[in-house]
Amino acid sequence: MSTAASETTNTDPYFQSLFADRIGGANYGKDNEIYKFEKIKRAKRKAMAEHPDRKLLDFGIGENDCMADPSVRKVMNEEVNKPENRGYADNGIMEYKQAAARFMQRRFGVTLDPATQINHSIGSKPAYAMLPACFINPGDVTLMTVPGYPVAGTHTRYYGGEVFRLPLLAENKFLPDMDAVPEDIYRRTKMLVLNYPNSPTGATATQAFYEKVVALAKEKQFVVVQDAAHMLLTFDGKPLSFLQTPGAMDVGVEVHSMSKGYDMIGWRMGFVCGHERIVSAFADVKDNSDSGQFMATQKAAAAALDNDAIPDRINAKYRRRLEKLVATLNECGFECQLPGGTYFLYAQSPSGTKSGASFAKAEDATRHLIEQFGIVTVPWDDAGSFLRFSVTYVADTEADEDALMQETKNRLGDAGLVW
Ligand SMILES: Cc1ncc(COP(=O)(O)O)c(C=O)c1O
Repeated sequence: MSTAASETTNTDPYFQSLFADRIGGANYGKDNEIYKFEKIKRAKRKAMAEHPDRKLLDFGIGENDCMADPSVRKVMNEEVNKPENRGYADNGIMEYKQAAARFMQRRFGVTLDPATQINHSIGSKPAYAMLPACFINPGDVTLMTVPGYPVAGTHTRYYGGEVFRLPLLAENKFLPDMDAVPEDIYRRTKMLVLNYPNSPTGATATQAFYEKVVALAKEKQFVVVQDAAHMLLTFDGKPLSFLQTPGAMDVGVEVHSMSKGYDMIGWRMGFVCGHERIVSAFADVKDNSDSGQFMATQKAAAAALDNDAIPDRINAKYRRRLEKLVATLNECGFECQLPGGTYFLYAQSPSGTKSGASFAKAEDATRHLIEQFGIVTVPWDDAGSFLRFSVTYVADTEADEDALMQETKNRLGDAGLVW
């Protein structure tokens, strides 16, 4: 009997000792740790129970507040009734790949062969679950920026690999310090996962940084996966694709998502593009994992990709809201500026209040703001202490946005935060 079996109790199912180590082994389901988002939910419930008449000002939601554009829903409506769309889509239809190729050409000047250099994914999240399967053997390393979207790291560990964390610090403009990676880590590194515009810091990458990454990838022999989920929510100039960098196509792929830039979160569409051999490895793993997104959805997503007015409108809306939020928070003692991209504002967390409360971590500040003032944020304590404010709150008109900002200002004024 393995030692794991001895950790079971007689109330456990007979298979308790069978759970794989990667999800906790015999301890699976017994972990008492409460995760960040669950703590936020509990604090929200407490705040609502104690102050039923006070509206929550929810800056915690990381999902677009609007439905997909009517023109996209119209295509979906038509395609859903066509018999030819009914079957398995496997690795995807040409129509979507061609639309993605046109999009990459038009928006970034990047030329891709839709047949070999682009493959759809059912949202971009599964792509981060599958790409480690293409590269990671036990003992191999994936370099991941923190704070960040953890899926590729989780799957790296599932395959017996290791994650080496690259902290994103304000003093480095939230770009990882690639020179700080020890040589013995580089020797085992197979993948570097980047994400720009970055969630949650809101930073964008520079051409010089990408050039350095391409050179390093060739020198140290690893592949690059650049997460472009927030690409079309870029505010500090034209969005920059990693694949625009000379040589990038030799070293990696970029993963695009329809979720944020097209208000298509629930539709589950994205694509992996770049080096043909990496795209084909991804497509092979994907083919053994799912049977493709519904063809009607792919056709609606193709129509969206062809219509730049949609992401441009969404970009303008979130930019306007971020500008209002920056002004409001700065009046209340925060020191923040418009992020380079994403619909998140990543602001230094307060250390306490004038009335004597003290916050050891951003998590404490979050709980205080929810419970005492009905203001919801998401704490990040991975590299410094920051609060993430999302501007995806529901507000039908600009006047509603302004009223929300006024109320935020009133409550934060009462909070008397100090840094
Ligand atoms: C940085 C980042 N990458 C990827 C994703 C996944 O997006 P989707 O699976 O909706 O394409 C998200 C979603 O929150 C994200 O924030």
